[in-house]
Amino acid sequence: MSLQPHGGTLVQAYNPQKTITHIKKEIEIDVMALSDLELIAIGGYSPIDGFLTKEDYESVVENTRLASGIVWSIPITLPVSKETSASLQVGDEVKLVHAGEAYGVIVIADIYEPDKHKEALLVYGTKDLAHPGVKKLHDRPSIYIGGKVTLTKRLEKKFPAYSFDPLETRQLFAKKNWHTIVGFQTRNPVHRAHEYIQKAALETIDGLFLNPLVGETKSDDVSAAIRMESYEVLLKNYYPEHRVQLGVFPAAMRYAGPKEAIFHALVRKNYGCTHFIVGRDHAGVGDYYGTYDAQKIFEQFTESELGIVPLKFEHSFYCSKCEGMATTKTCPHDSTSHVILSGTKVREMLRNGEVPPSTFSRAEVVEVLIRGMRKEVLN
Ligand code: ADX
Repeated sequence: MSLQPHGGTLVQAYNPQKTITHIKKEIEIDVMALSDLELIAIGGYSPIDGFLTKEDYESVVENTRLASGIVWSIPITLPVSKETSASLQVGDEVKLVHAGEAYGVIVIADIYEPDKHKEALLVYGTKDLAHPGVKKLHDRPSIYIGGKVTLTKRLEKKFPAYSFDPLETRQLFAKKNWHTIVGFQTRNPVHRAHEYIQKAALETIDGLFLNPLVGETKSDDVSAAIRMESYEVLLKNYYPEHRVQLGVFPAAMRYAGPKEAIFHALVRKNYGCTHFIVGRDHAGVGDYYGTYDAQKIFEQFTESELGIVPLKFEHSFYCSKCEGMATTKTCPHDSTSHVILSGTKVREMLRNGEVPPSTFSRAEVVEVLIRGMRKEVLN
């Protein structure tokens, strides 16, 4: 299987030499747009080379494809207020500014008003404002700006030892002589169920790219700093070093379930993965999506138009009768023998200093999580 980036070419739009001091117009961008700007420029979102124009946006929302027909599932947009948009024109080169710093420029190709209700329904599958992704969509300003971008300043790296651009991960994987690489997305600590499906994949795939999302998440998710420490301790104690690469994914979480699963897979393809794990309720939140909706959506596309193979795993758990990790595919016992805890329940236990069973999470991981959460509460 070849390691072609999505669309064939890895976008490279970082140019620190580009002079932008003469550019007067500015757009203030939020944290989500800032991470998107960087991800576009380093090729994470290839073939996308800018914030979506109306044509691409509508095509992504309605058909899960760019106007060119290439599969793409999450609209990458640059929202601005009506007042800001009134001062902008197609053709303008405009600085993209966050907290007083210019990070790049956009050449405006389009200014348009999106139908956010439609975007919510078709991308998130719901109009419900209680959905964190839909709420965020509506909280952002109401006019979208489309056009190619150049990144002129890199963002400060939160985890420098684990920050790699797609070009770098591709080189790393080649150096390790991995021919097949499975990407793993997570916004949570790695519990036994995650470990089980990663290791099941590792039985037949050369290497695991553990790629936790460290961009914006909802406030009750475990913070990236605590999670990173928990991944380090887990890898050190339970994974063979030469089979795993830890690297952060700086995007914001959308909680868009199936559509985000496609997006997560395509981006990992750009990072050089040949395979991608999709487990239960991938990128889901609450009860908005069916347990396996994020797996089913992959059937809508051919293997060649995706260019990355989804590895689909059933809901996994520890079974006390099997005395090991299993799924309903491999375990004949009923749920009374299964250790299943919801994310909310686990977070609540950890915050109270309660230790979830070692059949749910490794003791070393739990220790890091409890210590980290205590520290965050004190700060
Ligand atoms: S996600 O929002 O990033 O998808 P999470 O970090 O919980 O959330 O999940 C990471 C990956 O592991 C996803 O592919 C998810 O479907 C999968 N997963 C999580 N828990 C389980 C489980 N108990 N059984 C099988 N797959 C799981």
